[in-house]
Amino acid sequence: MTSSLLPVSLFCGFLCVPTLADADVYSIVANPAEDCSTHMNIGWQADLDETNSRIIYTAKSDTSWTHTSTAQGKFERSDIFDGNNSKKPTGEDWKEEAKFLDYGVTLSGLTPDTEYMYKVTGKTNESTVHYFKTAGAKEFTFVWISDIHTYTPIPSRVKNANAVMEAAMKIEPKADFVFSTGDIVAWGGSYSFWRYLFDQPFAKDYMFATVIGNHDWMRRTGGGGSSDFFRVALNNPTNGYAGQEGVCYWFIYGDVLFLTFNNELMKRGPSEEEAAKTWAAGVIEKQKGKYQKIFIAEHYQWFDARNGRSSWYDHWKDFCDKYNVTLALSGNNHVYERTVPLRADKVVADGQGTVYMEAPSSDGERGVEAGKLTMNTDKLAFTYSSHEHSNKTEVKTIGCVLVRVSPKAITTKLVYLDENHAAQVADEHVTRLDGK
Ligand SMILES: [Fe+2]
Repeated sequence: MTSSLLPVSLFCGFLCVPTLADADVYSIVANPAEDCSTHMNIGWQADLDETNSRIIYTAKSDTSWTHTSTAQGKFERSDIFDGNNSKKPTGEDWKEEAKFLDYGVTLSGLTPDTEYMYKVTGKTNESTVHYFKTAGAKEFTFVWISDIHTYTPIPSRVKNANAVMEAAMKIEPKADFVFSTGDIVAWGGSYSFWRYLFDQPFAKDYMFATVIGNHDWMRRTGGGGSSDFFRVALNNPTNGYAGQEGVCYWFIYGDVLFLTFNNELMKRGPSEEEAAKTWAAGVIEKQKGKYQKIFIAEHYQWFDARNGRSSWYDHWKDFCDKYNVTLALSGNNHVYERTVPLRADKVVADGQGTVYMEAPSSDGERGVEAGKLTMNTDKLAFTYSSHEHSNKTEVKTIGCVLVRVSPKAITTKLVYLDENHAAQVADEHVTRLDGK
């Protein structure tokens, strides 16, 4: 590819139809490292002749870039997206053109509780400035989003997700990172969708941790998908179990151990599910002392918020009880849901059980309508979706969740855009962890 390195978003913000502008280095994103107080993973892709791409970084307070450090990324060639059936932004059928060097680096020796800025250099130019914040503060906040289904022919999906994240950041201007429970792209096999996603403001301004969803795994045609699309597009820690390195992963941010799972594997059967649980139990044991709380995250919903029927809750409740999981995060249902604390399948007091939550969808198009709950009504504290239809079967939900973590409480707030695209806050809730 030839170069004009400024990313598309600089020219048109997120309101225009995306173009696949040429650049030497692209899809730049900060992903968590195991210990986010002193380490951070940065991932990007580069043209095949960019064998010397580097990252330059410094504290955000070093505004003149006088105390920079440089890190050389490691790379390997990837052709896994090339030739996949896809679509252009115009909606035209297209085969992806994506042969590149997949770069990654783990920055180390960072100062805790500090904002950093970085840019990636190519042969002739460098990227715009990106940012992340290290862990280390006693309290932290993340914006939790799900089911964006990034799709270049319909840019309103990403535009809606951006708008609701922006609304959330206005409420919590000091948000530390963005977390996602998957389906961030419509087809994982379409590299152009990933690249478009990483051109969005949130990917530039925050560390981004995400979980593989069925859409991130799938390709447009041909049946079957691959976890490798997700593995290559991101630069997650490679601390998952055999075959899941860079797909399932764990990280510690503040006093929370986050564990992420791959439903596309676990849904195959009990032994795949057991392998994930065995890995997670081992991490929990080995990292003991380095965290105070455990959050688990998978794509598929715990409950179906159309009627309250339990779904993946049944698969994980024993695990959550055994290991005292504080918060269980999921998506996929396209409906917001929060339970009261649960243990042994019963409602318990704050701090005595696990709260299971689902983030709503955020694309304003593929929402599922929340229905009357007829099952598990004692467990489900709140559900939300838009009731305005985008088509016969789907609704226009645009939401995300603010999660504030302090030593003795978890505070969650649903942020959504109503029919007039005005930001609303609902289900503000504090779960006390000290039994008070
Ligand atoms: Fe989805």
